[in-house]
Amino acid sequence: MQAESLTMITQNARMRELLESIDLMNDTDSSVLLIGETGVGKELFAEYIHRTSRRAAEPFVKVGLAALPRDLLESELFGHERGAYTSAHNEKKGLFELANHGSIFLDDIDDFPLELQSKLLRVLESGELMRVGGQKTIPVDVRLITATKIDLKLLVEKSIFRPDLYYRINVVPISIPSLRDRRDDIPILIDHFIKRFVPDRKLSVDEEAMNALVAYGWPGNVRELRNVIQRVVIFANGAVRKENLPNEIREDHSLQNIMKACTKCLVENDWTFEQLTDCLEMNLLTQTLKFHDGNRTQAAKQLGLSLSTFRDKLKKHGID
Ligand SMILES: Nc1ncnc2c1ncn2[C@@H]1O[C@H](COP(=O)(O)OP(=O)(O)O)[C@@H](O)[C@H]1O
Ligand SMILES: [Mg+2]
Repeated sequence: MQAESLTMITQNARMRELLESIDLMNDTDSSVLLIGETGVGKELFAEYIHRTSRRAAEPFVKVGLAALPRDLLESELFGHERGAYTSAHNEKKGLFELANHGSIFLDDIDDFPLELQSKLLRVLESGELMRVGGQKTIPVDVRLITATKIDLKLLVEKSIFRPDLYYRINVVPISIPSLRDRRDDIPILIDHFIKRFVPDRKLSVDEEAMNALVAYGWPGNVRELRNVIQRVVIFANGAVRKENLPNEIREDHSLQNIMKACTKCLVENDWTFEQLTDCLEMNLLTQTLKFHDGNRTQAAKQLGLSLSTFRDKLKKHGID
């Protein structure tokens, strides 16, 4: 699974299915929506999709929407004509024009401002755009790849994301599992990053350290793992031991990581206190259960609940 500088490391069955489904659509132009927590590899997937598509030789333009100032967004994406603003001394092509015949990757699409959504939709539907301050339409042929860390349906329900745009970008949804839901990838990723950061040194990870690394919740997913390995290899001599690992991994605050993972609670900011605690409780139960591979006794123990109380709570939330 390697194309140019792009290396996607995985041995997880679900991940392989996702990559196979991407390989199957390499001769289509369908819009893809990548869904996943920060650091799961959304950008890497977007590159993989482009590099394995029939547009591979054409441009691949990445746009980080969270990092772009809102007032510049429209002209960055769609360009502007000379004189469109007082500061627009020259005409400028937008990122859509630069991506012509290739693919554009709109990262953090959940941050896309409502007031520009109808324009984006129009460009996607019509295959042409008008620069800011422009009169003429310019044809653009661009394949769209987007990424989000939160469920866009929630934003649609809250009327901050247009449903028609949502359907237009969500033709092929791909949910990339969090690292804690594919722990079988942790050892091979560690191996990969060790080779990347210290190619000339033979460095192993002892068993106790490996167990802690595999058990940790990884709220920052592969990006966090990569950064931890980059730091740890500097001081490790021959083998990485548990005492070389950062505190949060040695002490395993997995419950804290579970709370961080609850994005739904973060989005629904007009909920009542009861709705919020209900959502937190449900998430806590599901994630703890998942963390212990469905073992109720262990999950109850970690939460400090008796098995019967734990069962009652699962029932209340309809969790299997
Ligand atoms: N399966 C993987 N194999 C190798 N490196 C990975 C993998 N997934 C993610 N990475 C690396 O982890 C970091 C974060 O990935 P990125 O695609 O930027 O995540 P996201 O866009 O979801 O936040 C990058 O350095 C990326 O190269
Ligand atoms: Mg990213």
